[in-house]
Amino acid sequence: MTKVKAVYRCAECGGESPKWLGRCPACEAWGSLAEELASVRTPAPTSPLSVPTQIGEVDLGAWSATPTGLTELDRVLGGGLVPGSVTVLGGEPGIGKSTLLLQVLAGMAAFGSRCLLVTAEESAQQVRVRAERLGTIVPDLYLVSETALPNVLAHVEDLAPDVLVIDSIQTVQDPELGSAPGSVAQVRECAHRLVRAAKERGMATVLVGHVTKEGGLAGPRVLEHVVDTVLSFEGERHHALRLLRAAKHRFGATSELGLFEMTGTGLVGVPDPSRLFLADRREGLPGSVVVPTLDGHRPLLVEVQALVTGSSLPQPRRSAQGLDPGRLSLLLAVLSRPVSTLARADVHVSAAGGVRIVEPGADLAVALALVSSARNLPLPADLVACGEVGLGGEVRQVSQTPRRLAEAARLGFKRAIVPFSAPDPPPGIEVLKASTVTWAIERAGLTA
Ligand code: TYD
Ligand code: MG
Repeated sequence: MTKVKAVYRCAECGGESPKWLGRCPACEAWGSLAEELASVRTPAPTSPLSVPTQIGEVDLGAWSATPTGLTELDRVLGGGLVPGSVTVLGGEPGIGKSTLLLQVLAGMAAFGSRCLLVTAEESAQQVRVRAERLGTIVPDLYLVSETALPNVLAHVEDLAPDVLVIDSIQTVQDPELGSAPGSVAQVRECAHRLVRAAKERGMATVLVGHVTKEGGLAGPRVLEHVVDTVLSFEGERHHALRLLRAAKHRFGATSELGLFEMTGTGLVGVPDPSRLFLADRREGLPGSVVVPTLDGHRPLLVEVQALVTGSSLPQPRRSAQGLDPGRLSLLLAVLSRPVSTLARADVHVSAAGGVRIVEPGADLAVALALVSSARNLPLPADLVACGEVGLGGEVRQVSQTPRRLAEAARLGFKRAIVPFSAPDPPPGIEVLKASTVTWAIERAGLTA
């Protein structure tokens, strides 16, 4: 028996309140409570008693991942999709979630998995047209345009797919619940039932999830709790580069990064991103420094560029693209003493190629790029720099320096400016140690 009552539910944390409040009593988010009709279900019958097993005796059975055929995705997942697992793929509209999953399903279907794509946003015709463009028309890939959850579950029952994709979880709904598609109650209930179906059938399931303006998954946090894996697909709208990361992964590490390029015929893996990022680099240009960064476990060589020009404005312009504006201000403050012209200059810095560098390991490269542009002196073409810059102008250690330098050496760089405390470099690259920014400026040949 189902009885219905009205409650107010928080869109951020899924917490509920019997009356409307301006602020969620559970997570303290403002203006996040919305009315919903909650159905109070009678408790389900208790499940049969399970038997504890010695840890070494647990049957691994089906828990081995099936490769998806997309190497960059398999890298992030640590091998592929695990049967019975549930994954959420989040990302902004237009980033390529539907494209990625269509390619995944076609790849898996071609290798004998029965795949079902439930398209709750686009018509089956639209998906077919895209599939033709991508060359992904394969017999074992089934398509259904459906938004009602009971019908989706009936199709699953009929077809017994090995892999199920729901595009998207915010557009499927259980008509019994009464609240609108995409509401917290709908997302939570639909996700719960799909998770149950996935576990019961050993069916790998991927739910597409929309993200909010702030970048979080739309719908309650509880969605993140009930699934095994949360992937996020990111990228700059005007660049072809797409980054795939795991925010949560029950079957492996979350530190792997997958890279794709959006092309006219779908997403193509980028196995050698450093080469891609440096492809358009012009050597001998003042204001350009290459930094070996680390994203998860993946070393990436990125060109940092700075443009410093005299300013006529009372408040000089500062802009940072793909780099943290806060760290730029800090570096300008630190450099204002050794390079006094910077204080009154317009400053633009950017990371080339549409990447975002969030780690402080790029500080030293940004600082050198600023000085190089301000003094109109280029850095040697075979030099990279990495290190964090402290408020006192000291250059600090960053993680996994040898790994970064090995990548630089692989791409033909011969020298690296690193913090004084850095461990010995890998073969093929010479290190120039600097304990302060001033010292690094000198070692880079930028002394005026
Ligand atoms: P889509 O997968 O629909 O994004 P999402 O599901 O995340 O909203 O991809 C949308 C964009 O990708 C669209 O703007 C067109 C572009 N695109 C290509 O550049 N090449 C292709 O082969 C495909 C299918 C899409
Ligand atoms: Mg889509």
